[in-house]
Amino acid sequence: MRLIIHPDYEKASLWAANYIAEKIISQTREKPFVLGLPTGSSPLGIYREFVRMHKEGKLSFKNVRTFNMDEYSGLGADHPQSYRFFMMQNLFNHIDIDRGNIHILDGTAKDPHTECRLYEEAIAKEGGIDLFLGGMGSDGHIAFNEPGSSLASRTRIKTLTTETRHSNARFFDGDPDKVPGTALTVGVGTVMDSREVVIIVNGRSKARALKAVVEDGVNHMWTLSCLQMHPKAVIVCDEEATEELKVGTVKYFKDIEKVH
Ligand code: GLP
Repeated sequence: MRLIIHPDYEKASLWAANYIAEKIISQTREKPFVLGLPTGSSPLGIYREFVRMHKEGKLSFKNVRTFNMDEYSGLGADHPQSYRFFMMQNLFNHIDIDRGNIHILDGTAKDPHTECRLYEEAIAKEGGIDLFLGGMGSDGHIAFNEPGSSLASRTRIKTLTTETRHSNARFFDGDPDKVPGTALTVGVGTVMDSREVVIIVNGRSKARALKAVVEDGVNHMWTLSCLQMHPKAVIVCDEEATEELKVGTVKYFKDIEKVH
């Protein structure tokens, strides 16, 4: 696993956006680039950069297929807090992606289990995910794979923890009770199957989880620690997020990146 530490969030976002843009640009026409995407505040800097690059004519999404990580149960496309709405507002409405190439779980599906099974099938039909971009919850979760989730899990419906509902209450008038109690989410196994994973982590509120994920062992209580078993994983973060890491850990990863 690479841990790339930048002085601030803007620089971390810029690095991640450029890294992914290069992969998209170098993909050949014959095979579309399959990109997994997150929501939340963490990827906003990357999405802003994608939009800027697109507007400047440097990046096209014509050859990109996307799969979002998760969606709240019961929130339709028109709900301002649905992840589909978020993605349209913050990225898809501003780039040249073909709408038919966007995949987001339907939180209003009458049969969520079938919805989740079909999502896994759709990913497989595209030949798997080339790169999964993600964020991390303050309890170390990836997508909505809350503490205790199976590290072999696939797309399914999950109950959200009180910590996650409190964290995400800021988008629901500050009221945790307004945050849906369940969500549809890709599994840890789904993320692990992608050819590459890039995670953006910023701010002090993520420092405790980053320490667990990077310095402790693989553990289902911090589901992002699964990355320790992934052949090609990168965590890009700001200095603030490293505050709980050992001085030696920070030195080690910075030293390695000098060579990169
Ligand atoms: C939610 C999402 C995750 C996201 C996390 C962190 O739980 N399901 O995909 O990584 O929030 O969100 P933020 O980036 O806003 O801190």
